[in-house]
Amino acid sequence: MKNYIANHAEIFILSKYTSRSLFGIALFAVIAADLAFDNYILFQFAYLMLSLLVGLSFWKETWIRSALVVLIVFFRVNLEQQAVFLIHDEFLLRVFTLIVTYFLTSSSISFMILYYIKQKQNTLQLTFTLAKALDSRDHYTADHSDNVAYYSKKIAEEMNLSKLACERIYIGGILHDIGKIGVPEHILLKPSRLTDGEFEIIKEHPLTGYEMLSHISHLKRSGILDMILHHHERFDGRGYPSRIGHNEIPIAARIMAVADTFDAMTSKRVYRGELDVEYAVAEIQKNAGTQFDPDVVKAFMNIWQREGPKLLSKHSAKSTIGQPSNKETAVASDLKITS
Ligand SMILES: [Fe+2]
Repeated sequence: MKNYIANHAEIFILSKYTSRSLFGIALFAVIAADLAFDNYILFQFAYLMLSLLVGLSFWKETWIRSALVVLIVFFRVNLEQQAVFLIHDEFLLRVFTLIVTYFLTSSSISFMILYYIKQKQNTLQLTFTLAKALDSRDHYTADHSDNVAYYSKKIAEEMNLSKLACERIYIGGILHDIGKIGVPEHILLKPSRLTDGEFEIIKEHPLTGYEMLSHISHLKRSGILDMILHHHERFDGRGYPSRIGHNEIPIAARIMAVADTFDAMTSKRVYRGELDVEYAVAEIQKNAGTQFDPDVVKAFMNIWQREGPKLLSKHSAKSTIGQPSNKETAVASDLKITS
């Protein structure tokens, strides 16, 4: 009994630092592994999980973490040098050793997790700032990144993509046009139709964006870089830059293509006013199977039928009844070029 308490004493001490339900599950796993199964590997695994939970609970407890690290180093150094303070009782020494090991594990894990999250947050903040810098160059497209992110996420949710996939597609939407930061302003803000040469420069923006952010490994791992690269591909393979089609295009990029075009058509642009939203929806429907993935269009239409023009209410002054002065040109332009 004495040994058993010594083995698990630190668990009871640590229980105050983690949530009761998670702690209960982990404690049960540790004791079950130890007593019921007598399985050393399972016991170690459950123990590691418990350490992780405690580590996670330290996120906001900076002072506890700092104090523990000092204590851990102090105890560890003394133990390794066999200078075991004034503790000569084997039982107490064992309890101390376990506590030190336990705190060392959990603190190391919490430090690593904190570092990783901080790095990720910093990177995302930087890229979002870049996206805002892009939007600020052209007040006609000031909300474009936000809108594309919003519509893309809605479509992804409608298609029952996982929560994680929906979050990633939102970030992809924010960043999708980041490569336009390299397009000269006289082309980006040109009020008249682009020449072929200017259009070729605009067409470079997916690859520019991809290359700009390619060193950020978690954007690559999460597929966000591929969304940026392929958001102008067409379902029939006639898009750019890779001219891939159908399932070769990542699903997130197929979704983004619809969201991108819908926002481009329903927003005011430097070369025209905003289009009638009904007309924009009809154009998207008409291009299902050619420019757009029919399944994505179907999901978009479900949202449209459910929400109607309220879908646009997220953004400020958007007319749903205004007619463009040069509708045919503008739609052709949106479907082929813009955003
Ligand atoms: Fe684009």
